[in-house]
Amino acid sequence: MNVLTRFIEAMPKAELHLHIEGTLEPEMMMSLAERNGIQLPYADVDAIRRAFAFGSLQDFLDVYYAGMSVLVTSRDFFDLAFAYLTRMHAQNVRHVEIFFDPQGHTSRGVSFDTVLSGLVDALERAKRDYGITSKLIMCFLRHLPEEEAFATLKDACRCRDHIFGIGLDSSEKGHPPSKFSRVYREAREQGFVAVAHAGEEGPPAYVCEALDDLQVKRIDHGNRALEDEKLVQRLVRDQVPMTVCPLSNKRLQVCPDLTQHPLRRMLNAGLLVTVNSDDPSYFGGYITENFLAIQSSLDLNKHEIVQLGKNAFKSSFMTDTEKQSALDDFDQFIERFNGSL
Ligand code: ADE
Ligand code: ZN
Repeated sequence: MNVLTRFIEAMPKAELHLHIEGTLEPEMMMSLAERNGIQLPYADVDAIRRAFAFGSLQDFLDVYYAGMSVLVTSRDFFDLAFAYLTRMHAQNVRHVEIFFDPQGHTSRGVSFDTVLSGLVDALERAKRDYGITSKLIMCFLRHLPEEEAFATLKDACRCRDHIFGIGLDSSEKGHPPSKFSRVYREAREQGFVAVAHAGEEGPPAYVCEALDDLQVKRIDHGNRALEDEKLVQRLVRDQVPMTVCPLSNKRLQVCPDLTQHPLRRMLNAGLLVTVNSDDPSYFGGYITENFLAIQSSLDLNKHEIVQLGKNAFKSSFMTDTEKQSALDDFDQFIERFNGSL
């Protein structure tokens, strides 16, 4: 194994763009379907894997929402999240900021509280057992109407102690951030920190809207911001974090060939970019696999990997003290690693 691969595997990591429902592995999908007496349109695990071939974001979302139907009880949500966190412990992840999609569940008759209690129990256990710290970010499904987002926000307000932020995901084209300006304003007034998916498939103007209309603190994806030089200058000037997801971009045909991926251009432009997995079960890799894939495709050097690794802690919603402590640990890791060579 080469030194850079060992470095990537061992380095302390933070993941900031991860949909917990996107960690549902085919094996767990089958076993939860059986546990809950749910009929899946797949004969076996191999058939599920074969369905994970996507021509676009919408192709993926159709399979993703169908897959969620096996998640019914708090125990299901606990098992899902704890399996992810156990994998993250093995990948030396120290901090996670996790998206969940309550409307994907309440629309099927699974209550908001059922979803949240399972997730919160898993996060608390991961803190106890693995020392992994976390934040939960509740996403609004942008293909649904504004009123439904308002109803979801009402649920979040009842559970404010457990939900740190709000996000925006699902079908991007035709659903601009400005559709949710009023819900975001209300959410920010209620103390939630705002992020949004923008510029994944949608145009750079959607990134501008996320910044101006939604007042987000971070852009999820944002690849297409590169098409607008003024916007790039603004993102660099304000050091707005961007959560880039290489294997997702490849599998959703946003960037089918990772040797052409914009990550190095983004780094060179001075953007505050991070590497994340998005929906690892569906896209063929967790955070370490994303780092390894983009490192080999772009031939990133150790300096660039270190920068990406540190950017994640800097871009997180940890307190300044927590960030400094995580960055100090990162520097100590580098010293120990270099000493062992
Ligand atoms: N929901 C889950 N993954 C998503 C993605 N990559 N883009 C938009 N919505 C999503
Ligand atoms: Zn995403």
